[in-house]
Amino acid sequence: MLNVNEIRKDFPMIQSEVERNHIYFDNAATSFKPQTVIDKVVEYYTKYNSNIHRGDYDVSYQVSKEYEEVRELVRELLNAKSSNEIVFTNGASSSLNLVAYGYGQKFLKKGDIILSTEAEHASNILPWFKVAEITGAKIEYIPLNEDGSFDIDNLKKMMNENVKVVTLAHVSNVLGYVMPMKEIVEIAHQYGAVVVCDGAQSVPHIKTDVTELDIDFLCFSSHKMLGPSGVGVLYAKYDLLEKMDPFMLGGGSNARFDICGNILLKNPPYKFEAGTPCIEGVLGFGEAVKYLLNVGMDNIAEYDRYLHQYFMSEMKKLENVEVYNTNGDTSIVTFNVKGIFAQDVAGYLNSKGISVRSGNHCAKILLNVIGVSETIRASLYLYNTKEEIDYFISVIKDVTLEKCIGAAI
Ligand code: ALA
Repeated sequence: MLNVNEIRKDFPMIQSEVERNHIYFDNAATSFKPQTVIDKVVEYYTKYNSNIHRGDYDVSYQVSKEYEEVRELVRELLNAKSSNEIVFTNGASSSLNLVAYGYGQKFLKKGDIILSTEAEHASNILPWFKVAEITGAKIEYIPLNEDGSFDIDNLKKMMNENVKVVTLAHVSNVLGYVMPMKEIVEIAHQYGAVVVCDGAQSVPHIKTDVTELDIDFLCFSSHKMLGPSGVGVLYAKYDLLEKMDPFMLGGGSNARFDICGNILLKNPPYKFEAGTPCIEGVLGFGEAVKYLLNVGMDNIAEYDRYLHQYFMSEMKKLENVEVYNTNGDTSIVTFNVKGIFAQDVAGYLNSKGISVRSGNHCAKILLNVIGVSETIRASLYLYNTKEEIDYFISVIKDVTLEKCIGAAI
């Protein structure tokens, strides 16, 4: 198992949180950054600030080379076949939109079906609503179990030859269930459908081998996995990247164009990377990926399971809370304190030095399944500890409406 005390020393925000007696349980929203990531961003601005793939001078060559080395690191993280299958974007939302518009809008037609679930984050459903409206395709939902978990038999029942896209999160950002992605992909492929995987909550926590899973598209963000904000990844099989259109055009993505409007795009991944990217973010992301690879994704997943099991077993002992994902698989615990509005509890927790998210967590149609729209979500990562969970439990077990009101005034 990883050494959490050593890991905590690498994160300046952990030191700040300790100094102000705070614990951070909102890692599904964004993660802290290790010093190496912060240093890399500063180093870029202080030592080799220049654009990439454009300058005919030393520092530009250097930064271009480092930028491409990050692409190779991401390839290694995902076990993709080629670094040309790694497209840098602005984040998971940006990647998902790129697939919806660049692939969905181009290839879907009236009568086609986009299959998804009611547990999806807005970023993996709203673009498909739009693409359905534009193309005449329709969205159907794979029924979920009452607790929001996934049943592969329900996917089998929903599949037919009109299903062209199956799009779903590998790990739900509200409930933390891990979807059986390999089986999902196998079934979808039997019907000729492509699988779009929202990996925003999975890639940071579990080993994601795109070759083994045979995923067609995988979308995720740097900022949830120790890297800077403003950077994301679209992984896609190379032939799909060749077929699909870019969402944006501009400098860097074309080989040539003429006055008549003829455009020759570069090969993937460059045809999708118009404009100056978030260079410092990608370089910092490279350090984040190195950090994760160094700790080991299997060790991170093992620690995540340990935190989750402990946290859940302690939460189950409390009579004043209702937990919605007792069978969850990752260190996301979603609950309410009975009789108290979620936001009021979150405010109270803040007054006790605990950061969590409350509300619908951008998954607004999940309430149709779990029957509640507002919940409190505690989400952990590799630097959180059992002691922090103990403190959390000691606070939550004594929450009352009066205390929450008192904290609010
Ligand atoms: N997608 C992030 C979350 O679930 C922001 O909190």
